[in-house]
Amino acid sequence: MDNKRRTVITGIGHYVPPRVVTNFDLEKMINTSDDWIRERTGIVERHWAEPGVGTSDLATEAALRAIADAGIDRSEIDFIIAATLSPDHYFPGIGVMVQAKLGLGEIGALDVRDQCSGFIYALSAADQYIRTGTYKKILLVAAELQSSNLDFSDEGRDMAVLFGDGAGAVILEPNDSGDGRGVLSCHLFSDGRFVNELWMEKPSSKDNPTFRTEFFEQGKFYPRMNGRTVFKNACDRMPQAVLFGLKHLGLTVGDIDYLIPHQANDRISQMVARGLKIPEEKVIRNISKYGNTTAASIPIALSEAVKDGRIKPGMLIALTAFGAGFTWGSAFIRW
Ligand code: UT7
Repeated sequence: MDNKRRTVITGIGHYVPPRVVTNFDLEKMINTSDDWIRERTGIVERHWAEPGVGTSDLATEAALRAIADAGIDRSEIDFIIAATLSPDHYFPGIGVMVQAKLGLGEIGALDVRDQCSGFIYALSAADQYIRTGTYKKILLVAAELQSSNLDFSDEGRDMAVLFGDGAGAVILEPNDSGDGRGVLSCHLFSDGRFVNELWMEKPSSKDNPTFRTEFFEQGKFYPRMNGRTVFKNACDRMPQAVLFGLKHLGLTVGDIDYLIPHQANDRISQMVARGLKIPEEKVIRNISKYGNTTAASIPIALSEAVKDGRIKPGMLIALTAFGAGFTWGSAFIRW
């Protein structure tokens, strides 16, 4: 392996479905209020897909934008990595669906199942493939469509107000110029003792038969979360992952130009900033417009910040995520 080689993002794009759902819209469907949602989460509106649209459709739209941004012909892509917790189908994953929808050749398609940390886990895998020379143009797409399976009852309203649909994609290529630009490092963590603190309990392979009317009646096919445990762990784990990465790189918090935390809840992003003692203007936050788009939240925020000119060449960008599993991590990119 060439030690100088870095994995660089040469194209980026995002897509959210056109339908905007405001907190006031939710007031008509759920026992909630705009005040509660704004105060507890910072969310004002989110985008929800129409029936008939699948996660792979959102992923494909974002991928097309990233491909156009990279200025490559899509036939040059030699590998796909797709991250989602909400695939179109129980199996297969969305990677192959994106491959077919883009009309790509018979290239490999890897699906990553690390929930809100999916983009960082996927980036870490892509980085290895690129630095070892295995692939030269990877499409990494993270997409999420959660609006079709939310529980609007009081039991599920904590999550129903949180989630939005969307997708973000990047094209990754080797940079052999020695200019230092690209992915510096990725750091991944998990603790499976917390599996049932944030999960969709059913369908489960443990049940035979898997699909039963009583599970539907008990609401077991909806995502469930112990919000306070998740909140606390998110506020602790994301700063820890960033500090771990900084130490590994011999850098300090002051070296970070922008921090992009997974947009889980705006209060969590503020706590992460406080935990790291990083000024709020260096923290990219867009949850007010999109809600929590799980694996897609980081690439959507990154894409927006690149397009609006906040992120400039040479800047140090830190990414951090936390989510179901629990899984969490950080990644550092010299833009
Ligand atoms: O992205 C993956 C990781 N996910 C996260 O990081 C999310 C982490 N957790 C959170 O963001 C927060 O826990 C929530 C936003 C989900 C909930 O906020 P909270 O401040 O932890 O509220 P809570 O669950 O402790 O509930 C407080 C009260 C309860 O009522 P009582 O028992 O005090 O009477 C809930 O029933 O708020 C009630 N409540 C709601 N009220 C209005 C819960 N959801 C709602 C709602 N509207 N949507």
